[in-house]
Parts: sequence; structure tokens; C-alpha cells
Amino acid sequence: MTKVNDEYDSQASSYDNFIRKLVPGYDFFISVTPLLMNNPTSVLDLGCGTGNSSAGIKNLYADAKLTCVDTSQEMLKIAESRIEGNFIQSNIEDFQPKQKFDAVISTMVMHNVQAIEKRQSVYKMISDSLNPGGVYFTSDIIVGENDITYSLYIKMWRNFMLNNLTEEEVDGKWLPLHKEKDKPLTLSKQIEMISRAGFKSIEIINKNINFVMIAAFK
Ligand SMILES: C[S@@+](CC[C@H](N)C(=O)[O-])C[C@H]1O[C@@H](n2cnc3c(N)ncnc32)[C@H](O)[C@@H]1O
Repeated sequence: MTKVNDEYDSQASSYDNFIRKLVPGYDFFISVTPLLMNNPTSVLDLGCGTGNSSAGIKNLYADAKLTCVDTSQEMLKIAESRIEGNFIQSNIEDFQPKQKFDAVISTMVMHNVQAIEKRQSVYKMISDSLNPGGVYFTSDIIVGENDITYSLYIKMWRNFMLNNLTEEEVDGKWLPLHKEKDKPLTLSKQIEMISRAGFKSIEIINKNINFVMIAAFK
């Protein structure tokens, strides 16, 4: 088990209580993702966590077959107790799907992939696993394109978190954890890498401070 994995295992039971306090627009990402799909028969949820995105998809498309992948056994247990699907404990960096999907999603996950070349190969795996006309939705944290926007985003994100959490929690826990563990990319780098993985068209669906939702079409 990796350190990232240990972190998520220990956070699993409280995850749904804190994620909205940390991620501006989290509920937008969750609620809009199914609306943008076109009655998918099969969906792959990479880093499914407690299953919030998958639950939204299943609510709208009861017949959709979900495949949910996560490294954290504790996260998977919660997701499995909420929704019907195929649950696989795997690192997305090693995951090789055995079927094709109409849609793939990764919500707040890709910043956990530490090496840039691994991230590129995960985008390629996603692109290869989609049926023709398939779509990939990714929501994630980004860093600014330069020092000015980098500082601005951290300042604005800190203010957002301070609306929901104490200074001790934000400055003593969440911001240091982010700086130590997360590997976010700039928006332009993400788009370049997704494009290189073989997607025809890429569109930004939403941007809220340093969090973006991107749709990529095969
Ligand atoms: C911030 S949570 C997001 C969970 C869910 N997608 C959501 O939107 O609420 C990140 C999830 O990704 C999982 N994760 C992190 N790195 C991973 C990796 N390399 N492979 C598979 N899962 C990973 C974590 O265990 C955790 O459940």
C-alpha cells in the first residue's frame, strides 16, 4: 500500500463530511457529470472514492453498468454498500480494463498520480478504453500557469476553505497535506496531455478557482 492509499483509507469514513468543505464546486461536478452523458450502458469510475459520482450516474441511468476502481479498500467498501457495480481494488496507474466503456470519469483523482509520464499513460488507457463517441469527464485541482495565478489561487482557495473550516484545520492540515502529497498540473498541461492521449475534442465545462471540470470526446 502506498502512502496516498493509507491516507484515503483513514479518511474514508469522514470523507463525505469534509470533501465539500475543501472543494469549491464539488456538488456541481457530481451533479452535472451524469447530465452530460447520453444514456451510457457502461461507465468506468476511476478513483471512485465513496461512490458519489457513480451514485449520481446510477440514479439517472439505472441500467448503466458501473465499474468502480480505487486503491483504497475502505473507500470501496462504502461505495459498494451504496451502489450496484463491479468494484475493483487497483491503482489506476496499473489498471487495464477488460472491456470498453461509453463514458469514463475521474473526479478529484488525477492529482494523486505522482509521475507525469504515469499520468500520460493513464490518459492513454482511458482513451483506449472508450467506445467510439465515448466521453471522458475529469474534475480536478489545478495549479496556476504562472507565479501570479499560483499565489492567487492558493489565496482564494484558502479563503473558500476558511468559510467552512478553522484556521488550524486549513493552515495546519489541509494546505500542508496538499503541498506535500498532491501533484496538480496547470490547466494547459492537462489539456495538452489529454489531447495527446487521442481525444478529438476537449472542452472546459466549469472552472471554480483552482478546480476544473473537463470533458474530452473520442
Ligand atoms: C479525493 S478522492 C475522490 C473520490 C471520488 N471520485 C469523489 O469524487 O468523491 C480520491 C480517490 O482516489 C483514490 N485514488 C487516489 N490515487 C489513486 C490511484 N493511483 N489509483 C486508484 N485510486 C486512487 C483514493 O483512494 C480516493 O478514493
